[in-house]
Amino acid sequence: MKITTRLLALLSQVQQPLFQQQKQASRAIAATAATNMASKSFHDIHSNSYDRMSSRCTTTVAAQILGSLTPPITPDSYILDNACGTGIVTTLIKAQFPSAHILAADLAPGILEVAKAKIQQNGWQEGFETEVLDVRDLKTLRDGTFSHVITNFGFAPNVEDLAGPEKAAKEMWRVLKPGGVAVVTTWYQRNFDAAFLATSKTIRPDAEPFTWSQHPSWETGWYLVQKLEEAGFGNKVMLKSVTTAAEAPTLDELVDNMLLFKDMFFKGYSEEEQQRLPGVLKEELAKLEAFEETEEKAQVGMIAWVAYAWK
Ligand SMILES: C[S@@+](CC[C@H](N)C(=O)[O-])C[C@H]1O[C@@H](n2cnc3c(N)ncnc32)[C@H](O)[C@@H]1O
Repeated sequence: MKITTRLLALLSQVQQPLFQQQKQASRAIAATAATNMASKSFHDIHSNSYDRMSSRCTTTVAAQILGSLTPPITPDSYILDNACGTGIVTTLIKAQFPSAHILAADLAPGILEVAKAKIQQNGWQEGFETEVLDVRDLKTLRDGTFSHVITNFGFAPNVEDLAGPEKAAKEMWRVLKPGGVAVVTTWYQRNFDAAFLATSKTIRPDAEPFTWSQHPSWETGWYLVQKLEEAGFGNKVMLKSVTTAAEAPTLDELVDNMLLFKDMFFKGYSEEEQQRLPGVLKEELAKLEAFEETEEKAQVGMIAWVAYAWK
């Protein structure tokens, strides 16, 4: 599992120019007000629809991480599901180890309630706790507490605090036990954003469309590795990219799920404009190179960075 960090980081730098060109194209029209994905209200408002909205794209990544962890999760592990959302990581662990000791923490109290309800429905309360915590300041948690700290797409994604990922990485290192492993995932290519952008341009050709702002360097594997190295993990960091997808049984369902984001992407659209959204988005999704439709499902392929860091 110990692949040299430098080599992997170098590889991600090599990939960067092409990647940046693609990203620049999709940013050709400047970002409108940067909606903050870390915003408490966004996740509180959407807590009940988060699982549908994410269309399994974070679940598939989490399942891949948990399937190949060193050290592996055992009934003796103590796991921090950091920025847990609706408890996707927690649920996958509990399905295998129902009494696993897990702290599920998130900044949005509403989404923690959804996580709690899922755990209760499955009768997995033993060893399960929740806490409202900011990944940048895990203030109530002691140094060296957890055997595993997993931050699945919650690495302080707040464009208003550019130092957020650095603070989050330091906190992950601090609360991890020596010998433990921290895992962080970020998006490399979300792909479906391009369909949202094209939909905006079709329906409102003269308006500046919303673009889902994320600091460009956060999308590079190099940046992720660097933040973990500097946080204290030194050269014990490994980076890989994994594929996933936003998926649903049919394209219509995928469009419905994705339009749960509509107040973010298409804010202020009139009723008539909103009525056009499903049809146009459907066409634009189908045009994507990453789009695939079979008899079983419709999906947009995505790529994530996964960094493993050992203390
Ligand atoms: C994209 S979701 C990921 C949720 C989950 N980990 C998963 O695997 O699907 C991002 C989550 O990070 C949370 N979040 C954003 N900024 C945060 C912060 N600074 N501290 C703690 N949680 C944060 C949000 O409330 C949201 O639940």
